Amino acid sequence: MKVTKAIIPAAGLGTRMLPATKTVPKEMLPLVDKPVIQYIIEEAVASGIEDILIVTNRAKSAMDDYFDYTPELEDRLLRAGKTAELEAVRRTAELANIFYVRQRETKGLGHAVFRARNFVGDEPFAVLLGDDVMMADKPVTGQLIAAAEKYGASCVGTQRVSPDAISLYSSLKIEPLEERVFRVSDMNEKPRPHEKFSDYAILGRYVLTREIFDILADTEPGHGGEIQLTDGLKRLCKVSPMVAVDFEGRRYDTGNLAGFLEATIDFALKNDEISPFLTEFIRNKAKTL
Ligand code: G1P
Repeated sequence: MKVTKAIIPAAGLGTRMLPATKTVPKEMLPLVDKPVIQYIIEEAVASGIEDILIVTNRAKSAMDDYFDYTPELEDRLLRAGKTAELEAVRRTAELANIFYVRQRETKGLGHAVFRARNFVGDEPFAVLLGDDVMMADKPVTGQLIAAAEKYGASCVGTQRVSPDAISLYSSLKIEPLEERVFRVSDMNEKPRPHEKFSDYAILGRYVLTREIFDILADTEPGHGGEIQLTDGLKRLCKVSPMVAVDFEGRRYDTGNLAGFLEATIDFALKNDEISPFLTEFIRNKAKTL
């Protein structure tokens, strides 16, 4: 099983980050020196992905502009001898083959993924949610692809969350297969406390086979009146093998302010240029709190 295609659903309205996301897509908000979506694309590329389909909506054209060339700006940087800046700007346009499709109506994650069926063809593919940014030594999507290949199965990324938090996620019914890998036999989207299977939540990364499209084609709206990917996966794991990887790395939900700030601080502390300044600033600040 070789996985070279990925889908990034990025058609959400960003209502948890208003007013910042009124005219700027939430995926374009900067985490230190790059927009959120670039971290996701870089993870996909580092995991062996070559072709990426971003599912967007009509308010997100800043995203396709970002991954294009900017001749006027590049020319100016070249003439000014700003080679580092020029390289950074060119690199964004050359990261991967990026395609776009619009989700014309906001009908849920399952519906967004379904929009990718013609792009995917018959091959297995990865899904990386546009809000979920990972900090990991081994790219998280790559960890999932390795397990999907080993078990000839589809695969979801998971971590254990607190019992209070599981109602925000998809809760998995799992049994251990090996260290960090589980067999998945059921799941529930945003369960109420008595409905959860475990505190293992799906966290933003998937490797799926094309069978999911036939299932999503007749999946009824679920939680929140939207077509949920989880409802499709719940059926998929009953007809074909599915594993979950308790991935190594830290996941940030950049779709809300607290998660966005955590990610900003952690990525800034990892950035050689800014980290000495920030460390000093935080130390001094902490003394005044
Ligand atoms: C989505 C999925 C959910 C998953 C979560 C985190 O929910 O529907 O199953 O657990 O992402 O990746 P959302 O955060 O969009 O409400």
